[in-house]
Amino acid sequence: MKAHVYRRNGEPTEVLGFEDIAAPAPPGPNEVTVRITKRMVHPLDDLMVRGYIPAPIPAEGTVPGGDGVGVVEQVGAGVDPATGIKPGQRVMLFPASGTWSERVVAPAMAVIPVPDDVSDTTACQIAINGITAIVLMRAALAASGGAPLLVTAAGSGVGHNLIALAQMHDAKAIALVRSDAGAAILAPSVPGVAVVSSEHDGWAAKVTATGGQAPAVAIDPIGGEMSAQLLNVLADGGTLLTYGGLDPRPSAISTIPLTVRQLTLRGLNAYGWLASTPVQRASDIADLFELARRAPQNFAEYREFVFTQATEALAAAHATPRRGATILTSET
Ligand SMILES: NC(=O)c1ccc[n+]([C@@H]2O[C@H](COP(=O)([O-])OP(=O)(O)OC[C@H]3O[C@@H](n4cnc5c(N)ncnc54)[C@H](OP(=O)(O)O)[C@@H]3O)[C@@H](O)[C@H]2O)c1
Repeated sequence: MKAHVYRRNGEPTEVLGFEDIAAPAPPGPNEVTVRITKRMVHPLDDLMVRGYIPAPIPAEGTVPGGDGVGVVEQVGAGVDPATGIKPGQRVMLFPASGTWSERVVAPAMAVIPVPDDVSDTTACQIAINGITAIVLMRAALAASGGAPLLVTAAGSGVGHNLIALAQMHDAKAIALVRSDAGAAILAPSVPGVAVVSSEHDGWAAKVTATGGQAPAVAIDPIGGEMSAQLLNVLADGGTLLTYGGLDPRPSAISTIPLTVRQLTLRGLNAYGWLASTPVQRASDIADLFELARRAPQNFAEYREFVFTQATEALAAAHATPRRGATILTSET
């Protein structure tokens, strides 16, 4: 079968090959073979290929891809039919690896049936990014006491999910993006949500004025210099939830305001979700599908690349400002 593979880190155009590799073995007990139809191209994929995120490369090479949507082809022994996992069923995968290939074998617990009224393109956008948003929103709502939530890098995939979730929970979200051009792109896809640009001095005061009070929680994947600025924007007792490092520089944070203003800094990631109970996870997934139905505009803008065009897709995923998701699609 075809897959994108790298055997050394570097510039994607130089190290990423489109190759024939061995098809996966038939699914073992509690495993499922899925033919992948779509996968998101994430900032993380580019960082992995370039080696900015250290990960050993096995002799056979690494196939990128940590999430995906597809169709069940084979079901291993012991998979409970009550899960809805059966050949022909459309599913999304989380967690997964190596989805920049035609097929993967995944554990049944990572295979999530997708309802007929949710498209592959939307399911793709609510897989890892939606689950990340669920984890973040649960922590944000617990910490906010009803005060506004500030969502940074709000034009991102996770940002779109966070805003839709806030609306579902009747929580007030303020969307922060780094440029006026990004604000102009984001605003029409998040009606009813205030979008603020941090391109100019005075953005912090604008955030507070927009919310009618300082935000109680900031949800941020940027880090770097932004972390200290966000701690300054928060109300006393506020919480900065961090979930990424788009700015990889270390954050210079003084412990004095943390102490005096009783601020909290907390890191979260999508994989933490796997520790929640099966009942909680099922309820979260139902929420994500409901969100997809209620806020289709949040997922309407995306760029699709055919499966062979992985390097083009990686380059497009760098374009700034973002215009929605970048998706790598296999022929169906
Ligand atoms: N912790 C987890 O489990 C988890 C899971 C999923 C994603 N993430 C992280 O979440 C972040 C967003 O992922 P995504 O897939 O949603 O991204 P995405 O859709 O590709 O969008 C990235 C967004 O980040 C903005 N951005 C990039 N660098 C920035 C910087 N230095 N300062 C301000 N804004 C910046 C871009 O702004 P412009 O539009 O202005 O270019 C763009 O809107 C990434 O850091 C990713 O690693 C974490």
